[in-house]
This record gives sequence, structure tokens and C-alpha cells, in this order.
Amino acid sequence: MELKESKTKENLMRAFAGESQARNRYTFAAELAMQNNLYVIKKVFDLTASQEKEHAEVFYSYLKEFEGMEIAVDGSYPVNTEKTVEKQLQHALENETKEADEVYRSFGDIALDEGFNQIAGKFYMIADVEKIHAMRFQKFAELLKEGKLFASDVKTGWMCLNCGYVIESTNAPQNCPVCDSAQGYFVRLSMAPMTEPEMDVPRPQDLGK
Ligand SMILES: [Fe+2]
Ligand SMILES: [Fe+2]
Repeated sequence: MELKESKTKENLMRAFAGESQARNRYTFAAELAMQNNLYVIKKVFDLTASQEKEHAEVFYSYLKEFEGMEIAVDGSYPVNTEKTVEKQLQHALENETKEADEVYRSFGDIALDEGFNQIAGKFYMIADVEKIHAMRFQKFAELLKEGKLFASDVKTGWMCLNCGYVIESTNAPQNCPVCDSAQGYFVRLSMAPMTEPEMDVPRPQDLGK
């Protein structure tokens, strides 16, 4: 089958539209998180938004042969305009789950049926990424809901996402002792970017001993 007469052509455009919208929703949510002094959640939304852009680019790249044309599709897309970070995390988690478990799986199956194996592979692999997105949003939604975003039952490491300072404590400090960033900049060391959770970091308590 030729792509031009396939269902997959439309599904690629649907996916491009969905990814583009997700990227915008996460950018709005990142701004909302920042207004609420939750820089760490802003970073989660920013990172995810940039990954959605890459997904959009992958899907779009398969539509090259339709250069200069328009592809009409129907589709339904979420309206999530509530101005609370908790709700935005929850919606993001639900949308990612649906995208992963239903939408991209079925797009992958259709592409396979139509003989577009490479495109099917992309739908399945990106579905897996959306699952990871869902789990990441879920983790942060839970921490926020339980009041544990900056507090831990046991002593743990906290990293300032602005300057990289690490402190071991049950709570992230109100302000970073190095760069004075607010508590919202801290993330558990186990969830810090590019960091080994077991990494042996110098602790402030050791200083002067
Ligand atoms: Fe995506
Ligand atoms: Fe996603």
C-alpha cells in the first residue's frame, strides 16, 4: 500500500497534532509551576515538552512526500486549563497513559497491517516513552499530593537544581545555602538529573571535622 492512500498517513498527522498540543500544554504547565514556586516541577514539564517536540518531528518527517499539501484529519484532544499544578500533573499522567496504551498502540497496529513496519516501530517505541512520561508525572503528582516533594520520612540527599549543591536532611532547605534559590529548586538526590543516587557526595556536616 502507498502511504498516500493509507490510514497511517492520517495517524501520523494526528500524532503530530497531539504531540504539538502536548508540548504547548506542558509549556503552559511549566509556567504555572513557576508561578507556584515549584521550579522542580517546571523542569519536569519542560523536559517532557522538549521530548514531545522530538516525537512530533519524528512523525512529521514521515509526511515529507506530501510537501505543500494538506492532510485533513479528525481527532479529539483534551482541554486541561485548570490553574493548579496538582491537576495539571494528574491530567498529564492520564493523557500520557491513554496515548501510550490506546492511541499509539492502535496506530502501530494499523501501520503494521498496512505494511509500514518502520513507522509501526516508531509508534510502539514512542508509546513506550509516553509510558515513562506517565510514570514520571505520577511520581511527582504523588510527592506533591503527599506533601513529600521537599520532605522525606528518612534522611536523604537533596540537590539544588540551580547550583548543584547537595545537602543531606529530612527536608530540603527553605533556601539554598549556596545560591539562595528557594526550596522549590530542590529535588531528591535519587531523582536528580545526571546523578548516581548512591554517589558519595560531600556533606556539609563533614566540613571542619
Ligand atoms: Fe510524545
Ligand atoms: Fe509524552
